[in-house]
Amino acid sequence: MKIAVLAGDGIGPEVTREALKVLDALSLPGLVLFEGDVGGIAYKRHGHPLPAETLEMARAADAVLFGAVGDPECDTLPREHRPEQAILGLRSELRLFANLRPAAGFPGLEDLSPLKPELARGIDLLVVRELNGDVYFGKKGERDSAGGREGWDDMSYNEAEVRRIAHTGFRAAQKRRKKLTSVDKANVLETSRIWREAVIKVAAEYPDVELDHMYVDNAAMQMVRSPGQFDVVLTGNLFGDILSDQASACVGSIGLLASASLGERQTGFGTFGLYEPIHGSAPDITGQGKANPIAAILSLAMLLRHSLGREEEANRIERAAAKTLASEIRGADLGGSASTGEIGDAVVRNLLSIS
Ligand code: NAI
Ligand code: MG
Repeated sequence: MKIAVLAGDGIGPEVTREALKVLDALSLPGLVLFEGDVGGIAYKRHGHPLPAETLEMARAADAVLFGAVGDPECDTLPREHRPEQAILGLRSELRLFANLRPAAGFPGLEDLSPLKPELARGIDLLVVRELNGDVYFGKKGERDSAGGREGWDDMSYNEAEVRRIAHTGFRAAQKRRKKLTSVDKANVLETSRIWREAVIKVAAEYPDVELDHMYVDNAAMQMVRSPGQFDVVLTGNLFGDILSDQASACVGSIGLLASASLGERQTGFGTFGLYEPIHGSAPDITGQGKANPIAAILSLAMLLRHSLGREEEANRIERAAAKTLASEIRGADLGGSASTGEIGDAVVRNLLSIS
């Protein structure tokens, strides 16, 4: 089992260190770690945010554990040398088409949600977002028009792209509460009409999963009105970008939420993927021991589940993280005073006490 560890810059290395402590505590046999430079640190050492050797290391691994990138010292560089190009490059080079973002309320943290505590308590959803298509990857450009310069972006989805992500969504729903809400704008958009028809066809292969459809504007409203109604939310790249941020904000701190980006390649243990906290490099708190490592630790849990077939260890990590939060060992982002290292140590202790 090979994991490429790309900690990146800013708080990336700080939170990744704690995830690796947790991994170490599991003492998994046959595990090999490779460490590569990515982001600002890679630019400073190699002149590129995603050096060829880092990409090769990621390709050769069964999974990538990613920290964060976004070194502000690189802010004035041309776009192709900016640290953020590393994560976009990895997603496209590794053909990671399925972005999974679980959002679930943690017991004891309901008061930190911008929603009413009783609503926050009920959140347990998974956004499954298509990551390689839609308006982000269509042709785009600028032209002259009667109204001055006009920008345009092509939005498209073909049936194969929709079917591929729909299978990911339905399989995830089968392992959860067996409900899938497909989010589109089929009353207006042709892409959404094709999306909806393709999802309905795929649904026939998953008769145990209840399917419903929602327009994206309604979905945005429902997610704050009654988030507990959602199990799996299946959607395209653009709508998923927006809805997944909204879903994560409903839970509380950005330092709590993990994500997986999966490809098609099978590893022998599971599906190849890249795992990262949803937050960025947080330059405002870098080097101060204030970063919450829970999101990075939960990203490791997702890695073990999806890429290494280690469901049991993944569950143990998730329980240990929840126990740590409930025991009020919390960082500044959650109104506590525990340091990054203290939170990681507490998760390790709780992990070892859970058999
Ligand atoms: P950010 O997520 O880095 O920070 C937003 C706010 O949340 C900051 O106040 C930060 O201190 C706080 N925060 C973030 N993670 C935290 C944690 N684990 N514990 C406690 N507090 C935490 O987003 P921002 O400031 O918009 O971006 C900073 C840099 O990160 C930019 O260069 C951006 O492009 C990059 N970025 C990179 C991402 C990635 O590596 N996938 C994702 C998002 C942003
Ligand atoms: Mg976003």
